[in-house]
Amino acid sequence: MQINSFDEYQKVYKQSVEQPEEFWAGIADTFKWRKKWDKVLSWNFSEPNIKWFEGGKLNITENCLDRHLEKNGDKPAIIWESNDPEKDSVTLTYKILHEQVCRFANVLKKNHVKKGDRVCIYMPMVPELAVAVLACARIGAVHSVVFGGFSAKSIADRINDAQCKLVITADGAFRGAKQIQLKEVIDDALIGCPSVEKVIVLTHTRTPVSMLKGRDLWFEDEIKLVDTYCPAEEMDAEDMLFILYTSGSTGKPKGVVHTVGGYMVYAGYTFSTAFNYQPDEIFFCTADIGWITGHSYIVYGPLSQGATTLMFEGVPTYPTPARLWEVVDKHKVNILYTAPTAIRSLMGFGNEPVDGADLSSLRVLGSVGEPINEEAWHWFDEHVGKKKCPIVDTWWQTETGGLMISPIAFVTPTKPSYATLPLPGVQPVLVDEQGNIIEGNDVSGNLCIKFPWPGMLRTTYGDHERCKLTYFSTYENLYFTGDGCLRDADGYYKITGRVDDVINVSGHRIGTAEVENAINMHAGVVESAVVGYPHDVKGQGIYAFVIFPNPHSDADLSRKDILQTVTRVIGAIAKPDKILFVSGLPKTRSGKIMRRILRKIAEGDTSNLGDISTLQDPGVVDEIIDKARQL
Ligand code: PRX
Repeated sequence: MQINSFDEYQKVYKQSVEQPEEFWAGIADTFKWRKKWDKVLSWNFSEPNIKWFEGGKLNITENCLDRHLEKNGDKPAIIWESNDPEKDSVTLTYKILHEQVCRFANVLKKNHVKKGDRVCIYMPMVPELAVAVLACARIGAVHSVVFGGFSAKSIADRINDAQCKLVITADGAFRGAKQIQLKEVIDDALIGCPSVEKVIVLTHTRTPVSMLKGRDLWFEDEIKLVDTYCPAEEMDAEDMLFILYTSGSTGKPKGVVHTVGGYMVYAGYTFSTAFNYQPDEIFFCTADIGWITGHSYIVYGPLSQGATTLMFEGVPTYPTPARLWEVVDKHKVNILYTAPTAIRSLMGFGNEPVDGADLSSLRVLGSVGEPINEEAWHWFDEHVGKKKCPIVDTWWQTETGGLMISPIAFVTPTKPSYATLPLPGVQPVLVDEQGNIIEGNDVSGNLCIKFPWPGMLRTTYGDHERCKLTYFSTYENLYFTGDGCLRDADGYYKITGRVDDVINVSGHRIGTAEVENAINMHAGVVESAVVGYPHDVKGQGIYAFVIFPNPHSDADLSRKDILQTVTRVIGAIAKPDKILFVSGLPKTRSGKIMRRILRKIAEGDTSNLGDISTLQDPGVVDEIIDKARQL
């Protein structure tokens, strides 16, 4: 949908709230359905039970591929830029992408993958990753993409939770100067995964890999054996499209479930609306497809709208801090969608790399994943957008499927560090601790959504109760986001950060309980408590307070041992930035750790720790403060 003025936004927004079903039916009508829905929406937030476009039949890949072939078959669908700047980029037109997806869908079928089966994808950022995702969708298999930074144990947990039948991977991945041995990690993971029957391995880094007879197959061999066309499986709107695991406040990541019809409508609608995408523009989202941002804004959103999406294998600072700008100039990128962490890390290299680039192709900028501080916002605006590109600071979550609160480029105002206004169809509310809705402006509270939207999660895989408890039980009849938020005097929303035990490190969600579990697996650790603290580049860093009575040799080595353990258990992305060895933790008499105190200490603000008299041993606080100062 394209909205052209602020007036029009207000009108459309009003209609979307007053007549939500008409509003969403109008958007859904712009997609290709084999059979239209019987009912737009049925819902309750108490079970929860949410159904969009019930009775509708479709296949999302017909929307992302087939429907563009006639007019735009030769238009680039995916442009791929390698990690290595010397390597040629690759362009897949819609026609070519369609054929590759069909072929790979036939490979999946040949290997007995059927509608409803779960497939785990653990791949580098190469076009074949998008092909694998779409091939699953083509035949109605449910993909579960796992980010390349997760460990074998994390992958095994995810594979077992979803009972995946097949794994798609590669020999390895390049990320900046590093190589990741993906197949080796998968081999370790699969020791404990009896549900997996086959592994399809793409050659990419050409590192030697073990290939197990009867289980492991080469991607390149398999696609030679199949037809170039694969009919799309007819799916119900509410059939499962994918599972994506994300961290919460308990130790175990949960599999967020999205369904075909609603997710497609929402990803496509938000993409075309907020970014103001114009035909023939190049859209560049720097996320990894292992996260929701990549699912919605590298693959499904852009392709459903017939857009050209740029996929970048590397990192913004490799081989030089000018790389991201070189990619923008090389491909004449029009819309650049990135994360505050990337912006802050690039800022750290000074203005020379960015000011030396042309960047005149840019028209719209976007930010996602974490609050963007004002300094980074202004730098992005001045040095990248040259003060002529609106910045859409998009707030959303794995669970929401697509953007929720965000400026609409050229239409609604922007405001540094504010996600600003809800997109039409999104009904945010702020509530106090008791769940009372806070009316009016210039207020803050916990952010909830009071009416369903098509892209919302339907359940958490295999555990509906968990979905209910996490999102729909804190406040009656509301979806609870886990975020704190303020609404300023003008009614603009600013996300202030998580209010639960989730930390946001470089835009990646990590549960403190998960990190604690991993640390506690180290043989020498008695107990630990993990909190977030402000970090100049990553937004938040991970601070671990650890009881470790008998360190082997020096403390530094013991710290490294703990980091190694966390890397093994979760992956390098969850490694604490700081580890403080302590003799005790501040606990209430009932044994609950007072994280509030630890957070303050981690922030370096010990002037006002509040009432600590209720602690079992108040003396432990002084010891921790003392040690923290020396760290
Ligand atoms: O705390 C919010 C933060 O990221 C969380 C969602 O993380 P995840 O599911 O991994 O999805 C990230 C990509 C959508 C939110 O609960 N967050 C996301 N976008 C913003 C944000 N915080 C502030 N401003 C944003 N624009």
